Amino acid sequence: MKILGIETSCDETGAAVIEESSGDISVKLLSNSLATSLVKHAETGGIIPEIAAREQVKFILPVIKEALSQANLAISEKPDIDAIAVTYGPGLIGSLLVGVETAKTLAYLWGIPIIPVNHMYGHIYANFVRENLKFEIRNSKLNIPSFPAIALVVSGGHTDLVLLKAHGELEVLGGTRDDAAGECFDKVGRLLGLNYPAGPVISKWAESGDPKRFPMPRPMWDSKDYDFSFSGLKTHVLNLIKKNGWRFDNVYSSNNNEVSHKEEFLKKTSGQNNGLIADLCAGVQKAIIDVLVFKTLNAVKEYEVKSLLLGGGVAANKALSDRFYSEIKNQKLEVSLHIPPAFLCTDNAAMIASAGFYNRNLCSWRDVIADPELYY
Ligand code: KG4
Ligand code: ZN
Repeated sequence: MKILGIETSCDETGAAVIEESSGDISVKLLSNSLATSLVKHAETGGIIPEIAAREQVKFILPVIKEALSQANLAISEKPDIDAIAVTYGPGLIGSLLVGVETAKTLAYLWGIPIIPVNHMYGHIYANFVRENLKFEIRNSKLNIPSFPAIALVVSGGHTDLVLLKAHGELEVLGGTRDDAAGECFDKVGRLLGLNYPAGPVISKWAESGDPKRFPMPRPMWDSKDYDFSFSGLKTHVLNLIKKNGWRFDNVYSSNNNEVSHKEEFLKKTSGQNNGLIADLCAGVQKAIIDVLVFKTLNAVKEYEVKSLLLGGGVAANKALSDRFYSEIKNQKLEVSLHIPPAFLCTDNAAMIASAGFYNRNLCSWRDVIADPELYY
């Protein structure tokens, strides 16, 4: 079985082809194509939905074409594809519509079904893309996650703790009550004049910072539930900036690579405030990681799960994954930790195809409607 995945929920346009591995229930990645309008959003310091949707329209067909040709499938005739898995929510309505309507058109033309996929399931199922020919997958040597499992989905829009009892059997244990963890990184980055998306940039700065210099709040640490709250952390940084009269000029970089961004930033600011930025970044990152790791491992212990799965853009954060590995080891927890490689943590279509493979809800193109407010 081959599935074409399509992802257009926000500012990334993705298409990927996966194939069922023979003699094994796992997913082999045949191709993975991605375009992003990130540079445009870096200019404005955040996503403007109208611009994201217009860019989706530009990218969608070239990206699908590239995914098919990388997988040695022709686009001119009906390719050897059994179904199209497409993100139908949650996300920005304009962006979602581009992917959903394209998938419907192709499904109609090719006479194949659609598997509508919840974007959040996609982030979880990035952990099930196990084998591939052309891409390096860090968890390829590990077994496919076993159930029950806890999934921590941490992205720009979500911070959710989910209990997975079996494929498609999910129970949401908690989520953020205000800003998501990625949103907190992005908003703090904006206050510090750093590029959007700020998560990778902050983690780069944090490497040389002292997390103890500015004590940060650990929101909802003691709340005895699995909810999170990150907006207070951003307000705390804002208050610190106001109280101390610090100025961070918005020196956005033309480069979206976090290492080059930091270098460009240092040049443009000629060294002003650099120790300060590094220490603030280290403090904020540590506060976010402390809460995420503490609450997630509480859930792992309470539900006695076999696997812990991370997903979403923030799961690409090296300090977060290092901390999970070390805490699991120190606490001698018998849980297998699964973290997708960075390119499968941030939005992509391979994870959508994978979620479609494991939760085969085959639908006619007539029955698929984009739903920006979709929950689990
Ligand atoms: O999953 P994703 O690509 O898109 C959404 O579905 O939201 O996540 C994007 C978010 C952004 O907020 C970005 O700042 C954050 O993930 N992010 C990171 C890192 N890479 C991306 N946050 C912290 N550390 C990173 N290395
Ligand atoms: Zn996402």
